[in-house]
Amino acid sequence: MKKIVILISGRGSNMEALLKAQLPCKIAAVISNKADATGLAIAQQYGITTAAISHKDFASREDFDAALAQQIDRFQPDFVVLAGFMRILTAGFVNHYAGRLINIHPSLLPAYTGVHTHERALADGVRIHGCTVHFVTAELDHGPIIVQAAVPVLPGDTVQSLSARVLQQEHQIFPQAIRWLCSKKLWLADDGRVTSSHAAPISTALISPALD
Ligand code: GRF
Repeated sequence: MKKIVILISGRGSNMEALLKAQLPCKIAAVISNKADATGLAIAQQYGITTAAISHKDFASREDFDAALAQQIDRFQPDFVVLAGFMRILTAGFVNHYAGRLINIHPSLLPAYTGVHTHERALADGVRIHGCTVHFVTAELDHGPIIVQAAVPVLPGDTVQSLSARVLQQEHQIFPQAIRWLCSKKLWLADDGRVTSSHAAPISTALISPALD
């Protein structure tokens, strides 16, 4: 059975969605860069091994990433899953886990890389927004895309209402992506493209606002 390690920084709702999903893999550990992350307490309630390693205890990003990798590698994971891990990772770290590092991002990449995605989508007046699960490469929020979910942006939406609508979809697509990976139904091919037998039904379309 495949093994995964989950990295978090805060609330941990995506991590909890993974823990609840009864995935075909062993969740070996949840590691946070913040000792007070609420997600750590949730993981402990599920009986998962947890660890905290503060980036503030290291002089450089490289030193922190090396220490983090050492913690992760104790568990020999097949995949390292970033579930709201709010640190930019060094190229050395990303390369060490090439093809094994997965992230969830709250936008339809390649739109809105980085932070404040919902604010920026609202400011631009887009009618469709969403979330993306992707492999991590050295370029921030740019790796090969595994799965995306789109939601309508509604009149009167606030950052809070829009982020809640997107988060609901994050909790659907993230466990699905890890399930596909762990059951070898989806993989990163040698040409750097995501390969899978799954496709959206050809009749599926989200039109926002709706047609009359
Ligand atoms: C999510 O919106 C995720 O997409 C982003 O950070 C947020 C983490 O939320 N990377 P949670 O900790 O999973 O609740």
